Amino acid sequence: MNNSVDRLIYLVVGARPNFMKAAPLIRALEERAPEIEYLLVHTGQHYDYEMSRAFFEDLDMPDPDIYLGVGSGSHAEQTAKIMVSLEKEILSRKPDLIVVFGDVNSTLAASVVASKLMIPVAHVEAGLRSFDRTMPEEINRIVTDVLSELLFATERDAVENLRREGIPEEKIYFTGNVMIDTLVTFTDKARNSDITERLGLKKKGYAVLTLHRPSNVDVPEVFEGILRALAEVSRNLPVVFPVHPRTRKRLAEFGLLGRFSDVFKSPPAERGIILIDPVKYTEFLALEMRSLFVLTDSGGIQEETTFLGVPCLTLRNNTERPVTLEVGTNTLVGTEPRRIIEEAARILRGEGKKGEIPELWDGRASFRIAEIIRSKMGELR
Ligand code: UD1
Ligand code: UDP
Repeated sequence: MNNSVDRLIYLVVGARPNFMKAAPLIRALEERAPEIEYLLVHTGQHYDYEMSRAFFEDLDMPDPDIYLGVGSGSHAEQTAKIMVSLEKEILSRKPDLIVVFGDVNSTLAASVVASKLMIPVAHVEAGLRSFDRTMPEEINRIVTDVLSELLFATERDAVENLRREGIPEEKIYFTGNVMIDTLVTFTDKARNSDITERLGLKKKGYAVLTLHRPSNVDVPEVFEGILRALAEVSRNLPVVFPVHPRTRKRLAEFGLLGRFSDVFKSPPAERGIILIDPVKYTEFLALEMRSLFVLTDSGGIQEETTFLGVPCLTLRNNTERPVTLEVGTNTLVGTEPRRIIEEAARILRGEGKKGEIPELWDGRASFRIAEIIRSKMGELR
């Protein structure tokens, strides 16, 4: 690779939910736009094997071409480190376009650096809004969208949000959901996974839990309330809980491991909350597919459960993905223990929400995006 390459794209990833969004676009660009070269840049925001490398292996992704190795830190530290390192990389190779994904700090940092160097930005998963600026992701989304030249939306509400914010119509594309592309591609591999057997879980006989939002796990009373509710729920069926590193830290720090020691179990267990490390993508997909229901504060998992038709109780008061509520299987239950217990009981009674698959969640979104990138590249600079 040298400075004279005509069309070069950087795809910037950094945290777990970026990898399953970038993987299908890489394949689509290779197929639909072979004349465009791309470099995969990994900021190193997530770095544990099971938060990063595991996805490259599981999703057959190429190794990152550039690894910035920034690691953890405060928002300012992490964002600033990415900006300083990425600026050098951009200056050395002068890409024609930077593609960013989702709403993590790596997304924000890359969009700001690129824009100031006059490199156009394409945002995959543009326009989502929780209208809650206490969420760091909301700030990241707003800034990234305002700086982007190509905005690829997963749902119609996102398109409306962008219009309302004054983003010119010609920059907005309703392309569907690249996370669903990955889900569709890897369904067979997930079907062959033996994770439920290894954990001693019976099909539709358990629930899955994930938690990592600072508003839930960084506030001791909120985290404890959620666990109290889940302790109650898990008297009826086992709840498998792959624990995010932020959450594992807080469990120890707040003394919750001790306080809930009679509820927390190692696999196999008939009841209780089964703590495990984060699992690779196809194993998590297998867990979702075979579960009776999912409880989560994740963004992406709200979408995956909607596609799979598995009821999802979202432990938040808002969502930036309203189509999962309106069309899909998602229910916002907040963090009040009584409500969580009631909604779980409803599902156990066979009254779980049934939904439909949202528009353009058809496994083809990354092809649409690749075609648009291909046709617009020349006009952008
Ligand atoms: C980040 C994203 C969030 C996304 C989530 C997906 C931001 C602001 N937040 O949150 O939007 O939903 O990723 O998982 O970008 N840690 C490790 N090992 C790792 C990574 C993190 O131990 O590989 C620990 C560190 O103690 C770190 C903490 O987890 O301080 C939080 O990591 P960070 O990337 O800052 O935020 P997440 O909570 O992971
Ligand atoms: N996921 C995974 N292993 C796990 C938990 C989640 O592979 O142990 C996947 C999940 O299937 C989804 C993505 O991680 O594709 C969601 O990422 P996360 O919840 O970390 O972030 P968010 O979507 O909230 O930004």
